[in-house]
Amino acid sequence: MTILKVENLSKAFGGIHANEDISFEIQAGEILGIIGPNGAGKSTLFDLITGFTRPDSGSVVFDGREIFGQRPDVISRLGVGRTFQKLKPFADLTLLENVMIGAFAHEPDIRHARDKALEILEFVDLLEKRHHFARELSTGQRKRLELARAMAIEPRLLLMDEVTGGVDQKTIPGLVALIKKMRDAGVTIATIEHNINIIMDVSDHILALDQGRRIAFGPPREIQNDQLVIDAYLGTVDVA
Ligand SMILES: Nc1ncnc2c1ncn2[C@@H]1O[C@H](COP(=O)(O)OP(=O)(O)O)[C@@H](O)[C@H]1O
Ligand SMILES: [Mg+2]
Repeated sequence: MTILKVENLSKAFGGIHANEDISFEIQAGEILGIIGPNGAGKSTLFDLITGFTRPDSGSVVFDGREIFGQRPDVISRLGVGRTFQKLKPFADLTLLENVMIGAFAHEPDIRHARDKALEILEFVDLLEKRHHFARELSTGQRKRLELARAMAIEPRLLLMDEVTGGVDQKTIPGLVALIKKMRDAGVTIATIEHNINIIMDVSDHILALDQGRRIAFGPPREIQNDQLVIDAYLGTVDVA
């Protein structure tokens, strides 16, 4: 089943075509990996899908419903969650409070929101730190908190922007395992990721962007051998 269908999506900022005629689909239950050099339009694509930026033209159908141009809170409540490349936790709130804020979107009862937040913190392996302030966390733990906050709205589709970016090597396997655990828990995932080994490992399909355009879309094997992708992207990183 197709959970998200994006067709001919475009957005220009002045003369910059940040996204130009982007089309792809995400199947329910899969992980879509999104790659592309800096400035390719990856984060913009997430902003357009989630309503943070209004697209110029095209179509975004989530679960059979057109969501093009809807407000972010509406799209979030329909079940599209996201994380941000620049993390935005409430630094002076505890982890529990941070996750509860997300949980209130679906759960107005404070005790239920608390229980749900605790459940999610356990899921991301941060339960022991629930009374710590967000500012006390390591970068890897902040990434887990960001995922927990996104999970709190109970997304059916979760868009992750560079979850493994900026963390040290030894933290990466745990984050990758967490992404797979979320998928296994029934969340469909689209993940922007620079580490090509991770992308090849986790993705069922890969979308490759360059200068605002889709240059390839398909299963990892095909993408790895795609000349446009190699020229734009793979050629610049260690693929060993
Ligand atoms: N709000 C904005 N205003 C003007 N230009 C923007 C804005 N957001 C993104 N851009 C531009 O759009 C292009 C794509 O950016 P972005 O989607 O952040 O790329 P990526 O996430 O792939 O690195 C870049 O040239 C960037 O400078
Ligand atoms: Mg980006």
